[in-house]
Amino acid sequence: MPPVITVQHLTKRYGSFVAVDDISFAVQQGEIFGIVGPNGAGKTSAVETIMGLRWPFEGTVRVLEMDPHQQRKELAERIGIQLQEAELPHRLKVWELMELFSGFYRKSIPYPPLLETWGIWEKRNSRFEELSGGQKQRVFIALSLLNDPEVVFLDELTTGLDPQARKQTWAMVEQIRAQGKTVVLVTHFMEEAQTLCDRVAIIDGGKIIALDTPQGLLNSIDGQSGLMIENSPEMDMALLQALPTVERVELSNGVVSIYGNADNLVSSVVLALEQHRIPMRNLRTVQPSLDDVFITLTGKALRD
Ligand SMILES: Nc1ncnc2c1ncn2[C@@H]1O[C@H](COP(=O)(O)OP(=O)(O)O)[C@@H](O)[C@H]1O
Ligand SMILES: [Mg+2]
Repeated sequence: MPPVITVQHLTKRYGSFVAVDDISFAVQQGEIFGIVGPNGAGKTSAVETIMGLRWPFEGTVRVLEMDPHQQRKELAERIGIQLQEAELPHRLKVWELMELFSGFYRKSIPYPPLLETWGIWEKRNSRFEELSGGQKQRVFIALSLLNDPEVVFLDELTTGLDPQARKQTWAMVEQIRAQGKTVVLVTHFMEEAQTLCDRVAIIDGGKIIALDTPQGLLNSIDGQSGLMIENSPEMDMALLQALPTVERVELSNGVVSIYGNADNLVSSVVLALEQHRIPMRNLRTVQPSLDDVFITLTGKALRD
């Protein structure tokens, strides 16, 4: 099967400023493909160019074997675009928005089942501006699926949501993929990409600095796994440091952090503490994350 999206040497400039700098990748049918990186990295410029919304650009882009600029109208019928909040008439009711946007497509699916699937049927008579952040995201998802698209582009879908609404939205993204659609997920939340994506392209300064599965990215760095335990009077730092599985022990803010990469790190630490009757309050494990990958690759921390 040919890739759903092929991007070769895509460069996008605004005047002399290079926002997207010679990126290449392919997205396969049925994947959730992540494009992640800090604000200003060039993610939106890249995906909006790929969707045919920004022009001109250099390089080659094919989406569903179409040229996004030459075949913009035809492509729009077959891709799902998540609108940004600013682009919606806020005073319209949810059902009116669905009617309005259905009219933009030659072929659209009935919206009542969509509203039911995404849990906003009972909000159909509410004005958009009266909805909660999570409900608005559901409207955006329903709007992006009105034309029963083969590929859905979601750009910062969960920005501004509280953690609970964000997790609910993640489940919805999985559900879109379960319907057989390909998803391109743009986000500055590394955790989101790590949780949802089959493969992730990390973008910084307009360039792809890494592209792999989340696990592949994690394996590529010498990430630190470890565990954390609340400090106690009985704690014995020297004992922990002497364990062959332990590489480093730190104490800060009343929490002991124990790092190492051995598979039996946790069991060996727990066993040693148990044998010496040292309490293990609030024990939790820490795994390297895509944040660590980003920091390792760029030498800088990612900030919201
Ligand atoms: N229409 C535009 N005209 C000029 N500069 C732009 C335009 N859109 C984005 N930029 C600039 O391009 C860079 C990348 O922006 P953007 O693609 O929005 O990044 P991201 O989505 O990763 O936050 C930023 O420096 C931004 O200021
Ligand atoms: Mg953006």
